[in-house]
Amino acid sequence: PLISLRQLLDHAAEHDYGVPAFNVNNMEQIQAILQAAEACGAPVILQASAGARKYAGEPFLRKMVEAVLEQYPQLPVCLHQDHGASPAVCQQAIRSGFSSVMMDGSLLEDQKTPASYDHNLAVTARVVEMSHAVGVSVEGELGCLGSLETGQAGEEDGVGAEGTLDHSQLLTDPDQAADFVAATGVDALAIAIGTSHGAYKFTRQPTGDILAIERIAAIHAAIPNTHLVMHGSSSVPQEWLATIRRFGGDIRETYGVPVEEIVRGIRSGVRKVNIDTDIRLAMTGAMRQLMAEKPEEFDPRAFFKAATAAARGICMARFEAFGCAGQA
Ligand code: G3H
Ligand code: 13P
Ligand code: NA
Ligand code: ZN
Repeated sequence: PLISLRQLLDHAAEHDYGVPAFNVNNMEQIQAILQAAEACGAPVILQASAGARKYAGEPFLRKMVEAVLEQYPQLPVCLHQDHGASPAVCQQAIRSGFSSVMMDGSLLEDQKTPASYDHNLAVTARVVEMSHAVGVSVEGELGCLGSLETGQAGEEDGVGAEGTLDHSQLLTDPDQAADFVAATGVDALAIAIGTSHGAYKFTRQPTGDILAIERIAAIHAAIPNTHLVMHGSSSVPQEWLATIRRFGGDIRETYGVPVEEIVRGIRSGVRKVNIDTDIRLAMTGAMRQLMAEKPEEFDPRAFFKAATAAARGICMARFEAFGCAGQA
């Protein structure tokens, strides 16, 4: 069976490590993550967005995760709904067998408009009530993901707030976090510290003024029993950007969250680290390279195999860096 996020992250907290939560949409991504986890002996969080369910279709997603449990019975696996936009979305995920859901009430149901604190609190408390009744964990979010450089959510393809966010929305307040957790009972809380979704997070290597890792310790001190979650935590590897560009891709200069900053975050209390973009970049880079270097190849399995290997490399590196290896 799947393990709940609460159980999985309680172990991480007890043993001082962080767990990468990788977004999945298809078989190759799922296989890459599980191959890496098996090689490292790491616990697994698979997370699916609304976009993933739309892409794969709910039955395919559900059956692929069933296949994971059959093939890797020795590994603890949590299946998490990423960025649930409403209690209804979370309810559908629970019906599909997810062991954890995120109610992202920091934004309204359109997932574009910043929500009031009261709205966030009300929808999140509803989801906690219905989820805990059936043993499913809940992640909430307080504060809006977005760039401290520009005030923009950073995502060009649809995930995150629209318009300019003000500074107070871009950094989670520890006192408000304590109030939010007391009122909702969430198991995990996504915090805003200057990260944003997608490839374009920072225009330069981030420093403390645009990536507020120091704030994590204060939030952790305010809510020590709630597991902290870092979203927008892809590192945007410069090597993969170079490969994509070398083989015809068009990605402008950009920087992600350095792995060593995430490790500092884990030391300060972060337990779940959301990563989607790095797997996208690695898979795209590997496929571009193979297509360019072997123009006679037309068996798609060759491209998918290269993409899976590249994604597996990202996953193994994160499992190792976050202290997850050997913890399964
Ligand atoms: O939070 C955003 C994740 O990267 C999921 O993205 O909605 O395109 O699947 P997606
Ligand atoms: P990245 O876009 O940095 O991979 O973040 C993914 C994420 O936060 C999913 O919820
Ligand atoms: Na999530
Ligand atoms: Zn996210």
